[in-house]
Amino acid sequence: MTSESDAPPPSVRMDELVGLCARRGFMFPSSEIYGGINGFWDYGPLGVELKNNLKARWWQRVVRERDDVEGLDSSIICHPRTWEASGHVEHFSDPMVDCRACKRRFRADQLDDAGPCSAGGEHQFTEPRSFNLMLKTFIGASEDTASTAYLRAETCQSIFTDFRRVREVARQKLPFGIAQIGKAFRNEINPRNFTFRSREFEQAELEFFVAPAEREQWFRYWLDARFAFHQEIGLSPARLRVRDHEPRELAHYAKAAADVEFLFPFGWQEIEGVHDRGDWDLSRHSEYAGKDLSYMDEESKTKFVPMVIETSVGMDRTCLALLCDAWEEEALEDGEKRTVLHFHPSMAPVKAAVLPLSKKIAEPAEKLARDLRKRMNVFFDVAGNIGRRYRRQDEIGTPWCVTYDFESESDGQVTVRERDSMRQERIPMTAVRAWLQDRLDP
Ligand code: GAP
Repeated sequence: MTSESDAPPPSVRMDELVGLCARRGFMFPSSEIYGGINGFWDYGPLGVELKNNLKARWWQRVVRERDDVEGLDSSIICHPRTWEASGHVEHFSDPMVDCRACKRRFRADQLDDAGPCSAGGEHQFTEPRSFNLMLKTFIGASEDTASTAYLRAETCQSIFTDFRRVREVARQKLPFGIAQIGKAFRNEINPRNFTFRSREFEQAELEFFVAPAEREQWFRYWLDARFAFHQEIGLSPARLRVRDHEPRELAHYAKAAADVEFLFPFGWQEIEGVHDRGDWDLSRHSEYAGKDLSYMDEESKTKFVPMVIETSVGMDRTCLALLCDAWEEEALEDGEKRTVLHFHPSMAPVKAAVLPLSKKIAEPAEKLARDLRKRMNVFFDVAGNIGRRYRRQDEIGTPWCVTYDFESESDGQVTVRERDSMRQERIPMTAVRAWLQDRLDP
């Protein structure tokens, strides 16, 4: 399954991508007018469409199409004991060092990337200290230990605490899973590589509960399914691989773990983790909450704590991978260049642009755009030279442009231009909706 390859990293430089994302409204720094805030990003009109397409596809594949997975949307803040049981209060930390000269803080295991000391001379690092990555807040009027709560560091813990309730209301038997998409927060010491390592991000997690004898089989099943998903959304197979964790990398309770990695311009990096977490989570919450979370198997008449196979994918990292992978700066025959994002149509933020050749004939084209908008995200643009309008759509990855010209007035046909090949085809205006729909849901 591992597709270790000689694939080149995406041709885009990160500074070019960051520039395009801000200029066209994919992602840009949060609170930009105040100079931004490190590790926090806002998704603009195109970014939110891209991320919503990704989330919808994940939900469709992992939850809706299956009768053995239930959905959940739990609160971001949960009982603080949750994070004691999960081990986060005690162990969720990175070793960090401070530089006495420039006063900056670094992860002790990433000092190679520290860069030069801004105070001049060499960095003067302190001894490593443990730094808990959970973001704290306070509930109620007083700011004391009793009112301390945490913004969740991963979405899955509520899946474990809600395990019994969801299983009962959904009348599920093992094997079955609970899935959710939601925000997670980590006070990363060095947020970096654009949205890759952020302090606020979104995860899509599935916790799949199985009998002990079936854990290996389900681990393989979900690893294969998740690897296939990344190809389905259009990531190049040559830039995807699975990396099995070495035994020394495994959490003490885990039996197996593997990362799905993508070849970013800054190297191979994890976008998704698939973990065999054993019965650690349910056992710990049972112990801390004093509630029985075991399962009675009616067939074998045995009672046990289910094992958990987890799939955990970052929506922001995957969006970044989609952007890096889609980017191409293409040299055209006429000596010109165009920047194209070759998104898979299912992920493209805008599915089609409707472009009347002139303002004088805009009305029927606008009517077409209105009709298409009932089914998909459509952009309508009447201004400017048609070549330039095509380029603007190429740059945001719109798969099709539909041009209404003077001939359309008499023959009722429009020209559909395909983004990657730039081939043009004339089809009846009344057929456009079905034509696009067929290509979006083949
Ligand atoms: N419940 C398991 C868990 O949270 P993880 O490997 O820490 O595992 C899973 O995180 C996924 O969440 C990662 O593969 C990554 O895509 C995303 N992720 C983790 N930390 C992130 C961060 N600081 N910024 C953006 N995405 C992050």
